[in-house]
Amino acid sequence: MSLRALATTVFAAGCGLMVGCGTPIERDCSSADTSAAEALPESLSQTGLYADIAADVVVDAAHEFEPRFPLWTDGADKRRWLLLPDGGQVDTSDPAEWVFPVGTKLFKEFALHGVRLETRLTTRTEGGWTAVSYVWSDGGADAARQLDAAPDVADTPHDVPSAAECLACHAGRGNFTLGFSATQLQPQTRADLHDAGVLSDAVEGEIDLPPTALAGLGVLHGNCSHCHNAHRDDQPQATTCFAPNAGEDDDEPVDFTLPHGLASVDDAPVLQTARWLLDGGADSEVIARMSERNTSAFNPSMPPLGTENVHQEGLAAVEAFLSELPAQER
Ligand code: HEC
Ligand code: HEC
Repeated sequence: MSLRALATTVFAAGCGLMVGCGTPIERDCSSADTSAAEALPESLSQTGLYADIAADVVVDAAHEFEPRFPLWTDGADKRRWLLLPDGGQVDTSDPAEWVFPVGTKLFKEFALHGVRLETRLTTRTEGGWTAVSYVWSDGGADAARQLDAAPDVADTPHDVPSAAECLACHAGRGNFTLGFSATQLQPQTRADLHDAGVLSDAVEGEIDLPPTALAGLGVLHGNCSHCHNAHRDDQPQATTCFAPNAGEDDDEPVDFTLPHGLASVDDAPVLQTARWLLDGGADSEVIARMSERNTSAFNPSMPPLGTENVHQEGLAAVEAFLSELPAQER
């Protein structure tokens, strides 16, 4: 259901935030096809990321990167790498839709208090994109492919998602890649990657927004837009689990996307959504859902997956942005 439709339901039926109303959220991703993940190497040491896994040395060809609007995931420490196939290049001729060659691998490592917990892999194969996590052994000698969800790994609160749950977020974009894009990389990083031959075309420009807006909208882009975007249901590997618009006739879905191609920000879906929220008073719905963590099938807290603690800094950034959006823009 769209936010507009939901707000109408809520206000018309008078059901408050804590009262069950609406369609229950589909949390079971087991119907998603993860057979390709079963064909991936069983150990992280076999994926090509490491020159020396024991010494924690990655291969020279791995490009470490950091998205400017990261996913919160309860503040875990992360490192991320892009590994292209030999001679491969990211086709950035369309700045909004970067195309990664078959054989591309992207990695994301999660650690807490200096201990590596899991390393996630997304890879483009002939048949499409595949995602799976590798869970580190005690002592950190290697990590093993993990198809099912693994809650509370290594006696920490950290939960490793199942291969099917990866799709709930990553299949929300056609190229599966959420943190390596024109919007997510700083201008200097883009320039360096182009100089190094990683990006086919130079992608210049900066998102033209004042700092408060950039921070608030960035939180929404980085933590919400993979699920809440107008094109999610049309993607080749779309899944219905955790899909806000699944099965709904939704002409104007809530969209938290900053322009991927650094195009005019005025038309960015996320700004239109923000203005609409303020207009209808539904901005409090966003704040309320971000301010809690629950597992209710109705009115679940947001995001509904991958976090157990409220992202206080992100919440404050979104609140600041919504309160500063000038009155004439509403
Ligand atoms: C709750 C949504 C969510 C889930 C579930 C999720 N991811 Fe991600 N992932 C993201 C977002 C957003 C980013 C980019 C921001 C960042 O890295 O902080 C990302 C980044 C990554 C990256 C770095 C490349 C990129 O896309 O930027 C890899 C690799 C990755 N995830 C793999 C996985 C795998 C494998 C799983 C399942 C085991 C998984 N993710 C589950 C949201 C999710
Ligand atoms: C893993 C996918 C996923 C992510 C990530 C996610 N949401 Fe949602 N969201 C949903 C689903 C599914 C629903 C529908 C559940 C309902 O109607 O109560 C929903 C509903 C909502 C609603 C109620 C209106 C509507 O469209 O149905 C709001 C507001 C919302 N989300 C805000 C957010 C915000 C803000 C974030 C990021 C901080 C976020 N969501 C991240 C899946 C997601």
